[in-house]
Amino acid sequence: MTPSELKLAAAKAALAFVKPGAVLGVGSGSTVNAFISLLPTLPFKVTTAIAASRASEELLNAQGIAVADLNAIDRIGVYVDGADEIGPGLALIKGGGAALTREKIIAQASDQFVCIADVSKIVSAMGKFPLPVEVIPMARTHVASAIMALHSHTLSKWREGIITDNGNHLIDIHGLAISSAADAAALETALNQIPGVVSNGLFALRTADIAYIAAADGIRTLNP
Ligand code: 5RP
Repeated sequence: MTPSELKLAAAKAALAFVKPGAVLGVGSGSTVNAFISLLPTLPFKVTTAIAASRASEELLNAQGIAVADLNAIDRIGVYVDGADEIGPGLALIKGGGAALTREKIIAQASDQFVCIADVSKIVSAMGKFPLPVEVIPMARTHVASAIMALHSHTLSKWREGIITDNGNHLIDIHGLAISSAADAAALETALNQIPGVVSNGLFALRTADIAYIAAADGIRTLNP
């Protein structure tokens, strides 16, 4: 199976969670794009969605699906999103597409978080994929120094040329190896304490609730 076919297969598995009349949370990235492309195959029309990025919003709008302001929505039933790494306990690294902060807000506001990915995203230790941290632009250098003070063996690199949908910068932390969900939650909390950090790409305090992982031999279902 090609990478696109695997993404489509994982996306298809998440369609069962989409309910008529319910507000749908939609993440960001190529696997989510596959999911959005499948929404017209449902026997009903999704009327309202919350989107994690402008790119997803445009794709949803192109299908005639209204994208609401989260401030106007009480709770989201289900949130469907991809991941850059899926670690122990369904803790995730996200933000390769720079949408981590909105993704985290929507995950937190959702009753159920369904993660869709191909098997290459499963890891035993998280951090080979550099961990994104969204920062207020004026704090970028000081946040990078504070991260180095926390983890001296890591390297924090500014993702040059990228401005998030929130107008902020991104730092990617290279060289992490996080082997438990508890360690991921501790680092997520510690990074959040640095002034200037808006959010970080660890999803360990609010993990996915279920993951559909596409492999050549079929779909695997993972629970925390
Ligand atoms: C964007 C994300 C994406 O979910 C993550 O990068 C996975 O993307 P893809 O499905 O293209 O592999 O976190 O910020």
